[in-house]
Amino acid sequence: MSKQNFYQQLQAEVKRIDAAHTTKREEVIIDGFQFKPSVHALIKGKPFLVFNSNDYLGLRHHPQLVQAEHQATDQYGTGPGAVRFISGSLKVHRDLEKALAKFHHRDDAIIFSSAFAANLAVLFSLIKGQSRDSLVDDSVIVISDELNHRSIIDGIRLANLAKEQKAIFKHMNADHLRQVLQTNVGKFKRALIVTDGIFSMLGEYQDLKKLRTVIDKFDDQYELGVLLVVDDAHGVGAFGKTGRGTEEVSGAPADVLIGTMGKAFGSDGGYVVGEQTVIDYLRESAATYIYSNNVTPGTAAAALTAVKLLDTTEGKKILQSLVDNITYLKKGLLKLGYQFAVQSTHPIQAMLIGDTTKTKALKQALHKQGILVTNINYPVVPPGRDEIRVQLSAVHSRADLDQFLKATQTAGKKLGLI
Ligand SMILES: Cc1ncc(COP(=O)(O)O)c(C=O)c1O
Repeated sequence: MSKQNFYQQLQAEVKRIDAAHTTKREEVIIDGFQFKPSVHALIKGKPFLVFNSNDYLGLRHHPQLVQAEHQATDQYGTGPGAVRFISGSLKVHRDLEKALAKFHHRDDAIIFSSAFAANLAVLFSLIKGQSRDSLVDDSVIVISDELNHRSIIDGIRLANLAKEQKAIFKHMNADHLRQVLQTNVGKFKRALIVTDGIFSMLGEYQDLKKLRTVIDKFDDQYELGVLLVVDDAHGVGAFGKTGRGTEEVSGAPADVLIGTMGKAFGSDGGYVVGEQTVIDYLRESAATYIYSNNVTPGTAAAALTAVKLLDTTEGKKILQSLVDNITYLKKGLLKLGYQFAVQSTHPIQAMLIGDTTKTKALKQALHKQGILVTNINYPVVPPGRDEIRVQLSAVHSRADLDQFLKATQTAGKKLGLI
């Protein structure tokens, strides 16, 4: 007996994944960027146009963010030094929290090393409380959209709830949520509803107004009410006229909102905004905040600059460029004869191909023509709904978009897609 036997089991699992063609570890290595901004990557010296990045506003090369990062690194050093309750908060971390709270019109914010870490802690803390002796009542039912992100699923798993305390509502179906809430009136003291804001496979958004209407009706039918928790990682910064995300587009707020600084804000790290009581409670209970380092000072400074930038004239222009690019590309693809999996106004646009082999072939053909996109195949999407996921950025130029359209035309014709 030896650990080699265990390693063989791990190897067998990796082989199984490879055989199922669901390998994720064959990552392209981007050596650098041909020129800035960031949509012109270099891979083994060859230029590629990036259409699969979450850097929706192209901020990761913005001179102000880069300068802020350098300055903060000079001032505070490269790392946070320790977790905040031990070493104290660096001012830049607190400034970022204040800016995020202001941006989202909330009392306060708390930042984490990532949105994934935020979700794990927020869900565990709000479901379970901070310890076995916690005052938080655990007579709770958690109701989750059926297509929620893995970090939400894992956050709920961590709470180790009994089977009857977990329910799923049909994807983006407020009516079904109402039925689930109705069925459970009187069985639990409180309910926690959790959903993605933007569902990143298709770029569709949860209509928070519809959910809010249902939730508010049930709030006084549960002794401790009904809470709406929304993870809008792909929405914040990138969606809505002023970049306030799914809340802005839906016209209704979450009770607790989770975001990331690692996508539209061009930096890294996660955050939660909400009422002061909730944020104070999270600062006392969120394990991935208390026992894990926060983002580096440079990262926090870059994010702070991005959050402030969004409300300037330049920020508004950047957001408008993103909207213009989405409109232009959608129009162009429709003209070529492509269809979309859903109607979306988000920078994620899903070209419906509907066939696994052809989807992979299109991705490869685009790759050969210097374009990076993501193919999304069954079982991630239902059979017959295979898609090419295109992610737009405000810093794609018209020439970039035209190059994309030309490449999809050439490849699509060859593959008999259009
Ligand atoms: C809905 C959702 N939540 C959380 C995350 C994780 O964000 P982060 O990279 O900040 O951990 C993602 C990233 O893909 C996401 O799509």
